[in-house]
Amino acid sequence: MTDEDLVFQSYGRCCRSSSFFEDFYASFLTSSPEVAAKFAGTDMTAQKHLLRAGILNLVLYARGLPPTKLKALAESHSREKLDIQPHLYDYWLDALLLTIRKHDGETDQAGLEAWRRVLGKGIEVIKAGY
Ligand code: HEM
Repeated sequence: MTDEDLVFQSYGRCCRSSSFFEDFYASFLTSSPEVAAKFAGTDMTAQKHLLRAGILNLVLYARGLPPTKLKALAESHSREKLDIQPHLYDYWLDALLLTIRKHDGETDQAGLEAWRRVLGKGIEVIKAGY
C-alpha cells in the first residue's frame, strides 16, 4: 500500500473515534505555552471541526490535489495574520502523531512514519507562505 492510501485509511479510523480531536487539542495546547497563547480566545468546539477538514486537505494534497486549500491556510497562518511561526508546526505534528498512535490501534511505527511523510509535504506548503 502507498503511504497516501495507508494514511487515508488510518485517518478514517481516527475520525470514527469520538474523542480524537479533543485528545489532539489537549496534547497540542499543553505542548508549549506559545501554542496555548495562540488559542487563548478560541472556541475550541468550532476549531475541532475546522481541523478535521484541515487534516483532510493535507492528506488530499499528498494524494495529488492542487494546493489551493493549503495556500489559503498558509495565508491565514502567515506572519501578517495569525502569525504562526514555522517551528510551531513541529509541536503540531508531534501532538497529532501521538494522538493517532492512541486512537488508531491498527497503525504501527511504519504507519506513523508514513503519516509524517504525507503531512510533511502539505506542512511545507503552509510554512513556505509564512
Ligand atoms: C498543518 C497544520 C495546521 C492545520 C491543518 C491547521 C488548520 C487550521 C484551520 C482549518 C483553521 C481555521 C481556518 C483558518 O483560520 O484558516 C485554523 C485556525 C487557527 N490555527 Fe491552525 N492549523 C495548523 C497549524 C497550526 C499551528 C501550528 C498553530 C499554532 C499555534 C495554529 C494556530 C491556529 C489559530 C490560533 C487559529 C485561529 C483560531 C481562532 O479562530 O481563534 N494552527 N487552523
